Amino acid sequence: MQGSRPLAFAVLLLPLLLLACGDGRQEVDSTIVARSPAAGEGRPAPTTPAGDPSSGATVEASHSAPPSPVTPTATPNADGVYIVPCGDILVPLDKLHRLEEDCEPQGLVLLTGDFAFEQQRVTEDVLPDLLALVEAARAEGHVFAVVSSYRSFETQRNTFQYHVDTYGLEQASRVSARPGHSEHQLGTTIDFSSAAVGYELVEAFGATPEGRWLADHAHEYGFILSYPDGMEAVTGYIYEPWHFRWVGREKAAEVRASGLTLGQFLLR
Ligand code: DAL
Ligand code: ZN
Repeated sequence: MQGSRPLAFAVLLLPLLLLACGDGRQEVDSTIVARSPAAGEGRPAPTTPAGDPSSGATVEASHSAPPSPVTPTATPNADGVYIVPCGDILVPLDKLHRLEEDCEPQGLVLLTGDFAFEQQRVTEDVLPDLLALVEAARAEGHVFAVVSSYRSFETQRNTFQYHVDTYGLEQASRVSARPGHSEHQLGTTIDFSSAAVGYELVEAFGATPEGRWLADHAHEYGFILSYPDGMEAVTGYIYEPWHFRWVGREKAAEVRASGLTLGQFLLR
């Protein structure tokens, strides 16, 4: 049944999907709303499109979160962690760099196409490249979905705690960012998955045609795989073939050419 797998997945991984319901949401429609998924593919339950489907995007409201008043730290806090500036999409975010709790991205838009689970949000700057990525993939027969995207500090707190409670602190630290440390707080980071792996966020996604297509082409649309295979000692996290951070096409080309992980590139 259409949408049943994503729904089941959403229930199973509720803590991952407890996205904070901030105020001032925007709703976006896109031309992809009208497209059909490939035959036999499961897909997320479509959300209700708003506005003219041919317009690409319909902005219904403005997100008015003010920039964080917190000054980034040039020296680490007592816990060795640096606070990075709010509002800069190119800040490093890892186990030693984090955003403040009140840092929210400006211009979040709600994804309403059939390429996204419900309640998924990214910043409006990401949207054109995201839509182009999805469309290009579909043109080559690859259908995947946005399973997770923007996560508030509070959602990260709940998500990390869920992993600690379920797997223990050591394993949780390998797979989940502590609050403020996740690239998902930027509103520019997306977890993709597909029907081939039941829309789960699992290593096996990397070996699917969709996972391979993303690994080969996402950078052409400004997205970089943050946690490559075999790089846990560098990134601090296990291989996440589903987790892509948007940095813009120009910067993504530079990252790819550098041969560095995104974290290494941003800190060099
Ligand atoms: N799974 C990645 C590291 C995150 O929690 O942002
Ligand atoms: Zn992720």
